Amino acid sequence: MVAGQERRVTRVLLIEDDEEDYVLLRGVLAEVTSTRYEVAWRRDGESGLQEIDRGGYDICLLDYHLGSRNGLEILARVAKSVKAPPIIVLTGQGDYLVDLRAMEYGAADYIVKDQVSAPLLERAIRYSIDRLKSKKALIESESQLKHLAASLLRVQESERGRVAAELHDDFGQLLTAIKYQIESVLARMIPCDSCAATLRDLIPSIQDAIGRVRNMYTELMPTILDDLGIIATLKWFCREFPKDHPGLHVKAELRVGEHEVAPELKLVIFRIVQDALKNAATHSEAGLIKISLSGKEGYLSLEIADNGKGFDISRAISSAGKHGGMGLMSMKRRAELSGGSFRIESTEGAGTQVRVQWPLEASR
Ligand SMILES: Nc1ncnc2c1ncn2[C@@H]1O[C@H](COP(=O)(O)OP(=O)(O)OP(=O)(O)O)[C@@H](O)[C@H]1O
Ligand SMILES: [Mg+2]
Repeated sequence: MVAGQERRVTRVLLIEDDEEDYVLLRGVLAEVTSTRYEVAWRRDGESGLQEIDRGGYDICLLDYHLGSRNGLEILARVAKSVKAPPIIVLTGQGDYLVDLRAMEYGAADYIVKDQVSAPLLERAIRYSIDRLKSKKALIESESQLKHLAASLLRVQESERGRVAAELHDDFGQLLTAIKYQIESVLARMIPCDSCAATLRDLIPSIQDAIGRVRNMYTELMPTILDDLGIIATLKWFCREFPKDHPGLHVKAELRVGEHEVAPELKLVIFRIVQDALKNAATHSEAGLIKISLSGKEGYLSLEIADNGKGFDISRAISSAGKHGGMGLMSMKRRAELSGGSFRIESTEGAGTQVRVQWPLEASR
């Protein structure tokens, strides 16, 4: 140890039924100069588990052969505990299978007792503690990312609602007022007047613009979901979508009862269908998109398949965000945040399939 340098303190829980091994390990730990180990010793699995539950340890050294219990039982129980420190399994020579299984059960490391030395033990303990720290940091940042994604989707929905309301209240009503004014002027004009004919020709265009504004409004804020339900909304969307994409056919197979879809899933389903259809129309060069919504084998399943050119999914996902593409990410997030599982498959020349499944009990 360098003079003046503080010795780290590491709290060790040793679960070991053999007193000689305890004395040996305590001696080995005492040889380490960089760290001071405070060792608590428990002779059996039960009191060891109680101690783990109490918390406060940085590392646990667990003897694999503990009387009637084996270390795996303890590992299996400890895996669920949030307070559990990383666990290093100690065993005899030649227990390679134990090594493999211990790792499967979540052990941080595995040390053969006969080969134990101060540098080996010190390094194993340090690495195990660091790995747990990184794992916790990763879990924390994943959960922050989930919260961020959820609030991003909420903000997106409320922004869509705001734009939809402006479209409806300002633009839609303005167009309707213009149409009525033209109609009332027309009613007072001589029908054969050439100006009357020009004005009359404007009516279908204004009517078309009113229809488009209504569709934009409904796509932004699908109140139709509450009024008519998901089945009617999807049918409407599949009818309207190809009007803006000539040459594209959309076929819907909706084999599920309205009552089988939980109310909170309806907007999620609609948004995923919107994103998937937009992607197929923009990127795939497909001629046909099939949408199916069905309830079978305990799951509510949504599938959107196009017969387009396909794409490299991992490349698209890794460049998501960098090049602005958010559709795939938001489909996945929406599916997962609502308790579903999301899968996308794509084969060059054979199109793309987006699949989402929710357990039926959760979807009702
Ligand atoms: N059905 C599809 N067929 C072919 N390529 C696709 C398909 N869906 C997605 N892609 C590819 O994956 C990329 C990422 O899609 P994503 O929906 O995330 O973003 P985007 O469509 O580019 O932008 P945004 O959805 O934000 O408007 C697309 O740019 C496209 O290259
Ligand atoms: Mg997209």
